[in-house]
Amino acid sequence: MRFTPFEYLLVTLITFGSLASCSNILVLVPFPAPSHWLWLEHFVQELLHRGHKVMAITNFAAKEDHPNYTEVLIDPPYDIPYYFPVTDIFEAKYNNDLSNLFLYWNVGLSTTKYALENPNVQQFIEQDDSDFDLIISEQFFQEAFLMFAHKYRAPIVTIGTLGYSDFMDRAMGLLTPWSFVPHPVLSYTTEMTFAQRCYNLLLSLADAVIRKYYYMPRQDMLAKTSFATIEGPESFPSVYELEKSISVMLINSHVSTSPARPSITGLVNVAGAHIQSAKPLPTDIQRFLDGASEGAIFFSLGSYVKSSDMPKDKLKAFFEVFRNVKQKVLWKFEDETMINVPKNVMVRKWLPQSDILAHPNVVLFITHGGMFGSQEGIYRGVPMLFIPFYGDQHRNALKAELSGYALTLNFADVNSITLGSRINELLTNPAYSRLAKKASELFRDNLVPPMEEAMYWIEYVIRHKGAKHLKSVSVDLNWLQYLMLDVFAFFAFVFLLTAYVAYKIISAFLEKPTKLKSKEHKKLTSSSKTKNSKKAKEN
Ligand SMILES: *[C@@H]1O[C@H](CO)[C@@H](O)[C@H](O)[C@H]1NC(C)=O
Repeated sequence: MRFTPFEYLLVTLITFGSLASCSNILVLVPFPAPSHWLWLEHFVQELLHRGHKVMAITNFAAKEDHPNYTEVLIDPPYDIPYYFPVTDIFEAKYNNDLSNLFLYWNVGLSTTKYALENPNVQQFIEQDDSDFDLIISEQFFQEAFLMFAHKYRAPIVTIGTLGYSDFMDRAMGLLTPWSFVPHPVLSYTTEMTFAQRCYNLLLSLADAVIRKYYYMPRQDMLAKTSFATIEGPESFPSVYELEKSISVMLINSHVSTSPARPSITGLVNVAGAHIQSAKPLPTDIQRFLDGASEGAIFFSLGSYVKSSDMPKDKLKAFFEVFRNVKQKVLWKFEDETMINVPKNVMVRKWLPQSDILAHPNVVLFITHGGMFGSQEGIYRGVPMLFIPFYGDQHRNALKAELSGYALTLNFADVNSITLGSRINELLTNPAYSRLAKKASELFRDNLVPPMEEAMYWIEYVIRHKGAKHLKSVSVDLNWLQYLMLDVFAFFAFVFLLTAYVAYKIISAFLEKPTKLKSKEHKKLTSSSKTKNSKKAKEN
């Protein structure tokens, strides 16, 4: 029997499809921010689509049922604004670098503890005896959850929501070179001045030390307390060890938007994995945008920072500027009952951002500069105005501004004049739109579509039951060994020792020969004298 190429392909697909289809995957997303789940949900959907069975620990109930999907709901979900008030954000409380880091750590510890103590999660830890082929954890300040990998003796893949951090490099066996890789909270470019490199070293070092001695022991403690019921605490690995056992990290980063940095096979860039071809818009929005003959501005501060919580004077500035532009404005605003909305402005409490940005009439995107929004703006080739608040937003803004398709305005500086002039510049200077299109072309040009690449690595780790070989053995070297400081110290010692011994020997030689020579000289001179005197006598 002979197969046509098409039949051959079909048979191959079915064989491999069925091989890969029966995996059980546990997905851990205890962090309660909607934007994180929105991104990770795309991976869950794709896994289900490929026939895997997925169980997720999450704060968000599924929008629709799927026979192969089950969830352990963290219910009631963690109330972020209660623990971390949005007013702090508007007051720029997290503008200082160290406080920015502590914000991450404290949010991480607080949300992890909350999730682990949730009765549904506790019950799942104590009673569940299912088998998982893979643990997928969000790579985000929730290291205690890695203990599930120990419970099920399963390999781990993590999906990073933010871009790279030094500790991800360390877990994969790399030390981040601080000479040209700025710390993630710093708004530095890779070309740092001497002073910037000094500061980068201090902050990166502080991060490493505080993480190791303050943050990670607390995560470890949370893990050991929560899993204490399943076995004696002495047999647990530390979460630090578990972190080093992660097989692959899928990172939300792209070579065209983040500067090149040293990497290793187990670190895989998957930025843009969530972006799909645009879906049809709701009719009212479609009509609004279709009718924007002068173009439309899309304004959203994301899911956490709510426009409706903005101080009154800032709100007034936005209204004033929007009232005076020719463009239509689509604004994600949480209070739809607001009065005195200008005629050219439409407010909605929820808007399909990525699909709106794909509408050809959208000429400007005003954003807080979160990772996903920035990437969607880049992907759709829309010029942006960044109003950054915290976390990685300042850095995203700086990167976009340097690439020439965006401008930045700090929230504290927002008034009708600054806002008006920035918007005017972005709308009238064609360079922004041209460079946005160019950035889009680069962002879309991938060897493999990022979601496909993510699935390849996830299934690879399942197939091979872990993939230790994707990281270097240097995970087990300490930093003295890694930087070869021990070897340098050894050679310095050998060199100094040799130099010292050589000095001693030479100086010993230098002393004796002089004594010898002077004696010989005396002998010689005396003998020549006697010779001379003999000669004289003879004469
Ligand atoms: C559910 O998973 C099984 C394999 O475990 C697969 O055969 C089936 O097609 C999946 N169902 C759906 C709706 O994807």
